[in-house]
Amino acid sequence: MKIFIDTAEVEQIKLLVPTGLIDGVTTNPSLIAKSGRKIGEAIVEMCALIPGPISAEAVASDYDTLLAEGRFLAKIAPNVVVKLPLTPVGLRVCKTLSDEGTPVNVTLCFSAVQALLAAKSGATYISPFIGRLDDNGSDGMELIRDIRLIYDNYGFETQILAASARTALHVRDAALAGADCATLPPAVFNALYKHVLTDLGLDAFMKDWITTGQSIL
Ligand code: G3P
Repeated sequence: MKIFIDTAEVEQIKLLVPTGLIDGVTTNPSLIAKSGRKIGEAIVEMCALIPGPISAEAVASDYDTLLAEGRFLAKIAPNVVVKLPLTPVGLRVCKTLSDEGTPVNVTLCFSAVQALLAAKSGATYISPFIGRLDDNGSDGMELIRDIRLIYDNYGFETQILAASARTALHVRDAALAGADCATLPPAVFNALYKHVLTDLGLDAFMKDWITTGQSIL
C-alpha cells in the first residue's frame, strides 16, 4: 500500500521524508488555507522533496477555468497530480486531462457509483473519504470494499486512495479491503509505529542490556 501524507505543511513533510516510507502528498484547499502558503510555491517545494505523486487541487466551477487551472498546476512539476472534485464538470475535466496524459485524483467521493464514474472518466486515483462517512453515520470502509469489487469486476486501473483517514485502524482496514493507497495526516502516520507492547518490550530489553555492561561498538 502506498502511503501519502495529507498536509500542505512543507516542514512536516521534510520531517517525514527520512523515514523512507512516504510515497506522495495530497493537499486540498482547506489544507492550503491552513498552511497560509501560496499553492504554487508550496507545491513546487513538495515536488522537490518527494519524487512521487503530489496532489494539487483545482477549484473553479466551470469547465474552461477548471481545465486551465488543472493544466497550470500540472505544469508546476512532472509529479503533480491534478485533484478535481467529483462533479459533472470535474469529471469532464478529468477526462480531458487524463486523455492529455495528466494524472488526476478525483476527490470528495462518497459513493460507489461516483467512483464508477470517476474510473470511466480516466481518473488515476479515486479518493473516498472514509472518516467523513463514519462521522455521518455511514461505514466508510464498506465504500472502500465496494469500490474494490467494482473496479476488479471491470478491470479499472484507477487506484483507490483511502482519504480522510483518522486512525491507524482505518489504515489497517483500508489495507485489508485492498485500497491501493492511503493518505494520512502526519499524526496518523506517526501512530502507525505505535504499540504498547513494543514500548514495554524495548524498555525491558534496554534495562537487561545495561546489566551486561557491554557495548556493541
Ligand atoms: O485531503 C482529503 C481528505 O483526506 C480530508 O480529510 O480529515 O478533512 O476529512 P478530512
